[in-house]
Formats: sequence, C-alpha cells, structure tokens
Amino acid sequence: MYVELKNRVVLVTGGASGLGWATAQAFSAAGARVAIADLSESAARSRAEELGAGNLGLVCDVSDEQAVDSLVHSVVETLGSVDVVVNSAGIPDTFLPTVDQEVAQFRKLVDVHLTGTYMVSRAAAKHMLRQRRGVVLNISSIAGVMGLTPRNAYSAAKAGISMLTRTMGCEWIAQGVRVNAVAPGYMMTPFLQQLIDDGKLDAKRIFRRTPAGRFGTAKNIADAMLFLASDSAEFITGVTLPVDGGYMAWGAASDACAVE
Ligand SMILES: NC(=O)c1ccc[n+]([C@@H]2O[C@H](COP(=O)([O-])OP(=O)(O)OC[C@H]3O[C@@H](n4cnc5c(N)ncnc54)[C@H](O)[C@@H]3O)[C@@H](O)[C@H]2O)c1
Repeated sequence: MYVELKNRVVLVTGGASGLGWATAQAFSAAGARVAIADLSESAARSRAEELGAGNLGLVCDVSDEQAVDSLVHSVVETLGSVDVVVNSAGIPDTFLPTVDQEVAQFRKLVDVHLTGTYMVSRAAAKHMLRQRRGVVLNISSIAGVMGLTPRNAYSAAKAGISMLTRTMGCEWIAQGVRVNAVAPGYMMTPFLQQLIDDGKLDAKRIFRRTPAGRFGTAKNIADAMLFLASDSAEFITGVTLPVDGGYMAWGAASDACAVE
C-alpha cells in the first residue's frame, strides 16, 4: 500500500510521543526514512533507533525560529531531502477561564502550535518548492472548529492551523506541494491521559458525546496521514479532515452514544 512513500524523507515534529510517534512508525513501515524532532534529544534519538538504521532523531523546539531552520537544514543534509512534514508538536491549554489565563501562557500556546506549524512548514517548503514535490501535514483539533470552552488559546491556535492549511495549500499546489490537516477528536495518547488524570476531562462524558462511543487511537491519525501523504490524495489540498468518531457531525441535544 502507498508504494510511492518508499524512501521518502518524512520529518515528524513532536515525533517522540503520541500521534507523532504513531505516524512516524506508520511512515517507517511504509518504507519511508523518518526524522523525529522533539524537545528531548535523547527521546527523539531513542525513537529513531527503535525505527532502525537510516532514521534520525533530532532536538528542536518548534517555537524557536533558528532551531527550526537548522532542523530542516540538518534533515536535508543528512537524509538528502524533506518530502513530507508532519507538524505534531503540541502542548495542552491550561483549562483556566479566559479572564484567568495568563497572556504569557496564551502566547506560548500560539507560539508552539500556530507559529511552530508555520515556521516548520515554511522552512520545509523552501526545499519542497525547489524540488516541486512535497506534502505538509498539520494537526488541528475538534477544538479548532467547535467551541470547547475554556480552551481559548489552544482553540484559537488550532483554528489558525486550519486556516494556515488552507492558505498554504492553495499557494503551493500548482508547484507540487500539498498542505492538509487532520482534526482529531479525543485520541488516546499521553497528552489525553494526562488531561484525564488531572481531572480536566471526563472519559465517560466524552464517550457519551462521541457517536463512536470511545476514544480514537493514535493509529487512526497515522492512517489518515499516510493517505493524505500518498498519491491517492494528489488533488486534495487545504482541507482539515475530521478524524473524530463522528464528534463534529453530531448536533442533537441527546447523548450520541449510550454509555453506562
Ligand atoms: N491526543 C488527542 O486527543 C489530540 C486531539 C486533538 C489534537 N491533538 C494534537 O495532536 C498533537 C500531538 O498530540 P499528542 O496527543 O500526540 O501529544 P503528546 O504529548 O503525546 O505528544 C506531543 C509531543 O510534542 C512534543 N512537543 C511539545 N512541545 C514541543 C515543542 N515546542 N517543540 C517540539 N516538540 C514539542 C512533546 O515533547 C511530545 O513528544 C498536538 O498538536 C495536539 O494538540 C491531540
């Protein structure tokens, strides 16, 4: 499946955990060479080692412009190209009411999610546009489409990622570079588990609100990423694809799923 992904160079930010790690594994299984970038160099390296020889683990804070430019430079120098970028680095919001949210925290969320996605995409696109081939894959959220109070900074940043996906997707497609995003619902990863453990999310209420009646898996996102990166999606650009078990499709006042 997706034989065209063989030997492609795929850069995954936030690739040491959760959705990024599952996506890195899926691309590796499809025969791609993967560069994993994350805040912890040792975590990124050990994940790359798990994938085997020919893969790369690099430290990078996606909110640092210089670090991002040097990350993309290192990937191209070491692996010879960058054909696909997966922008998966992310942090949760504080869940504080909007009037209690610190401006510094708001800025940090926008810096990591929105500006980080922009800077990594920009740096990679300079190379992709020269080779007239490339795919940028972003991660929005149901929170970027619907109002999930009180996640104000996270939601605004994710909505921004969907719009950035549209603008870049339209700007670059004629030159062979496509840009798409997924909007995950609630997917079981360390990020989600921590929010549940901290009492910020209630698993049963989420199950009742989700037509599928359960959390999604990281593999559900990885599978969507493979499709969007493949030639099967060659005429698809600028979209945000929900991968949410029907969460955003549901609009009735009753529960979407009977859960005890
Ligand atoms: N899990 C979900 O239910 C869900 C739902 C919607 C959207 N998302 C989004 O998916 C993305 C991945 O989330 P996840 O659930 O895999 O979380 P995760 O915490 O398991 O993984 C996120 C990774 O990003 C890294 N990271 C954080 N800040 C970074 C930075 N500044 N620079 C580089 N790396 C950084 C972390 O170290 C971690 O390895 C995030 O953008 C998140 O907002 C997740």
